[in-house]
Amino acid sequence: MSDTETAGLPADTAQPAISIRHLTRAFGAFTAVDGIDLVVPKGQVFGFLGPNGSGKTTTIRMLTGTMRPSAGTIRVLGEDVVRHPHRVQHRIGYMSQKFSLFEDLTVEQNLRFYAGVYDLPAERFAEQRQYVLRMANLVGREDELTRNLSVGWRQRLALGAATIHDPELLFLDEPTSGVDPVARRQFWDLLYELAGRGVTLFVTTHYMDEAAHCDRLAFIYRGRIIADGSPADLRAAHADARHPDPTIEDVFVDLVSAQPGER
Ligand SMILES: Nc1ncnc2c1ncn2[C@@H]1O[C@H](COP(=O)(O)OP(=O)(O)O)[C@@H](O)[C@H]1O
Ligand SMILES: [Mg+2]
Repeated sequence: MSDTETAGLPADTAQPAISIRHLTRAFGAFTAVDGIDLVVPKGQVFGFLGPNGSGKTTTIRMLTGTMRPSAGTIRVLGEDVVRHPHRVQHRIGYMSQKFSLFEDLTVEQNLRFYAGVYDLPAERFAEQRQYVLRMANLVGREDELTRNLSVGWRQRLALGAATIHDPELLFLDEPTSGVDPVARRQFWDLLYELAGRGVTLFVTTHYMDEAAHCDRLAFIYRGRIIADGSPADLRAAHADARHPDPTIEDVFVDLVSAQPGER
């Protein structure tokens, strides 16, 4: 163990995929993420829910090492992300809220670009390229310009680009926003395929049908986690006379309306 590690978090590789403590991020006087604690075991499909502006994207930026926290500790795949953001970057994927594809490049060129970002050796790229094109159902569309693809295709290409380096952990920030129900269903089939290969998924969504399919959920509200648990446990905890068998949407409405200033 190096001196820097002894000064930070203890080294431990047999850890959950994500473990964060008191994570906080302020922008001036405003606290966007306010002391959250969260543990995501390896292999889980974890849903991170909350209204617009509640701190989801800011949390993901800190977890991926692209933004420094104001306070708190983050361990991702056993590494201390705050101290050593580069150590995990080859092992995680990030599909950001605005798909980060180049409109003027073809499908193939976008994949090649991301392979370059991750320093993928040529043979690995050849393998991964095939896997990704098949998974995203983009075989035969390699030479199409990205700007000519429909939203559903671009979304799958963005997923392909985010997984070109075969990450162990994938962050997806509202990946299905603005996509029709059929494409959303197909996209989730892809996510399950990744999960089936052991990839841990950290997903934000506003669609409660998607939330219901996660292994575990956390609700963030004004920068704080106000509930977490499996969909079944959360639903059971929020059953009442009015909603004896509440949906995840009922749970969400219940949680938010119970917050001070919401009623
Ligand atoms: N770079 C920034 N500078 C100032 N405020 C920011 C910045 N990024 C996010 N915020 C604010 O932090 C809050 C949380 O934003 P965000 O994490 O994007 O929420 P969500 O992804 O849940 O919609 C919002 O009020 C947003 O305006
Ligand atoms: Mg966001």
